[in-house]
Amino acid sequence: MSKDWKTRLIHSDAQIPQGFRSLATPVCRGSTVLFSDAASAPDEWNQYEFGYTYGLYGTPTVLELAAKVCELEKGFRTIITPGGQGAISLIHLALLKSGDHVLLPEIIYGPNRQFANAVLRRFGVEVGYYPPSAASEISSQFRPNTRAVWCESPGSITMEVQDVPAIAEQAHRHGAVVVLDNTWASGVYFDAFAHGVDVTMQALTKYIGGHSDLLLGSVTVRDKAIYEQLGKTHQDLGCAASPDDCSLALRGMKTLSVRLKAVEQAASALAQWLQQREEVELVLHPALPSCPGHELWKRDFTGSTGLFSFVFHNQFTREQVVRFVNALKLFKIGYSWGGVTSLVMAYELHSPKRPAYGPRIVRFYTGLESVDDLKADVAQALEAMK
Ligand SMILES: Cc1ncc(COP(=O)(O)O)c(C=O)c1O
Repeated sequence: MSKDWKTRLIHSDAQIPQGFRSLATPVCRGSTVLFSDAASAPDEWNQYEFGYTYGLYGTPTVLELAAKVCELEKGFRTIITPGGQGAISLIHLALLKSGDHVLLPEIIYGPNRQFANAVLRRFGVEVGYYPPSAASEISSQFRPNTRAVWCESPGSITMEVQDVPAIAEQAHRHGAVVVLDNTWASGVYFDAFAHGVDVTMQALTKYIGGHSDLLLGSVTVRDKAIYEQLGKTHQDLGCAASPDDCSLALRGMKTLSVRLKAVEQAASALAQWLQQREEVELVLHPALPSCPGHELWKRDFTGSTGLFSFVFHNQFTREQVVRFVNALKLFKIGYSWGGVTSLVMAYELHSPKRPAYGPRIVRFYTGLESVDDLKADVAQALEAMK
């Protein structure tokens, strides 16, 4: 069949050499997937069962990232989402329906709480909160309609380490699914499924991406039944992740072990140094005995990472804390964490359901700079605040 040049732009006979074997995963972009005949074109999301059907359910780049996160977390399957918050909302919407009850720890990541309070309640889901220190006594908070219990360990900002196995035992006795935000441990330093968790999520935005240049999330499940529930909802919501971002995350993953080790060492050194400073009342780093749940961290975790908080003595005012943060030069002021740059954020905790640190709590993320330079930066900012 002869072809006009306009047709050749689309249906070309141009040839290139075959067999390129790169160390890097190719970026496979694509919405439409081709089928060999009209009779074998299933409209199905589960590409492990039906083969590739549509870009929404993951191109090979997306599925490779999913498979590698799953391998790391020792789960059954992983779904990649366009961000960590997308993973959180996918889990809520997949597991819950009107009339159900969900339990969240009081210290849960703010936008997760916001989603539960604003969206889930609007759709008729009952939302309850439990203290992060709860172990088997969480049992009294279960209702006949409790379907899911969230954990986040350590907790956002206030860093409480939770007794996940004890919570999981009670949840399973009451027929509820246990979900864990496993971002702090990057799916590496806490073996969630071995500790009774059924569904984990991570903001891959943080350590897996590792360079503050992408937003991605993951949802990893223990078994096929939950995978079916989540995969179907993922299809219904249509929240596809970008293959380009997944390719960056795959690259980030290759250096995860050295980056995690470096930020662990830097954060531990800085946390111990801060503990000696007269301005500081409390250092909230899970590897230090001053952190709520430290004994649980020792029992259940195999390492720590770069994020921790500390609390100034109560003689310091909000203005002084702000002056401290503004005086830092290497620590940049910004949300999120897990990249190469050290970050700082000051919070104000006044809710009766959270520890009464008021405006005196500051969160640090240590990046890959020299620890001595970081200490010097903090020391000069401590002088500047007085
Ligand atoms: C503990 C935790 N979970 C989830 C998220 C959400 O991730 P993303 O920013 O990718 O939506 C964050 C982001 O800061 C987080 O800190």
